[in-house]
Amino acid sequence: MLKDKNIQRFENELKKIERPGINQLLRYIRNSDFYSAPASTRYHLSCEGGLLQHSLNVLDALRGMLYPGHEGAWEYLTAGRVVCEIPDESVTLMALLHDLCKTHYYKTSTRNVKNEQTGKWEKAPFYTVEDKMPLGHGSKSAMLAMQFIKLTNTELYAIWHHMGFTEQGADFGTVGRAMELHPAVLALHTADMMASRFMEGESGNKEAFADMPAGQEAAGSATAPASDTPQFEEAPPLAPGA
Ligand SMILES: [Fe+2]
Ligand SMILES: [Fe+2]
Repeated sequence: MLKDKNIQRFENELKKIERPGINQLLRYIRNSDFYSAPASTRYHLSCEGGLLQHSLNVLDALRGMLYPGHEGAWEYLTAGRVVCEIPDESVTLMALLHDLCKTHYYKTSTRNVKNEQTGKWEKAPFYTVEDKMPLGHGSKSAMLAMQFIKLTNTELYAIWHHMGFTEQGADFGTVGRAMELHPAVLALHTADMMASRFMEGESGNKEAFADMPAGQEAAGSATAPASDTPQFEEAPPLAPGA
């Protein structure tokens, strides 16, 4: 993973935000383990710099599912109709800050793993959770961001409920209502799922998304999607010969 490039891109995206406190927020992020933390303990980007890569992936996934609208805003469509317009600043903040809760959250341990080539047991690092600020997930990301900057209602709801119905102990009524009032909640949740399920492997982006640090442009200058179609593993047929 291109960690330095990712840091540069992450900071360039945040520096475009014109909002009081953004520099203090950036300083907080720099002084935390955000740039080195994994995105998870296993499955997706459970590697150094994984959280940073995941945050950028969500930004690319989110921009990729929205359409350029008026005055630098993005349009979120359903059946060809606009259900909400999301300012470009909000798209950036929602994506890049949604997992701020994963700072000061992981710790590195080691375990013995057998080297298949040499047959010897070696110490290998792995991540475990040691949440130093147990304040929840999306709610914690929103609260941390709001220590430094004001969030719009859309940003607050989207970050707070970005886990959608997969949040542990989620109240279906509350999450559903939040999505109806602020469709950006579902947009961010979908982008988060797209990133972790389609784009990310255990130790880096999947091949089709390996060159993502270049990123997509902001609203109004969105580039055409790459012509290479990602290759996904096909599920086995339901019945022989199907
Ligand atoms: Fe999350
Ligand atoms: Fe996420």
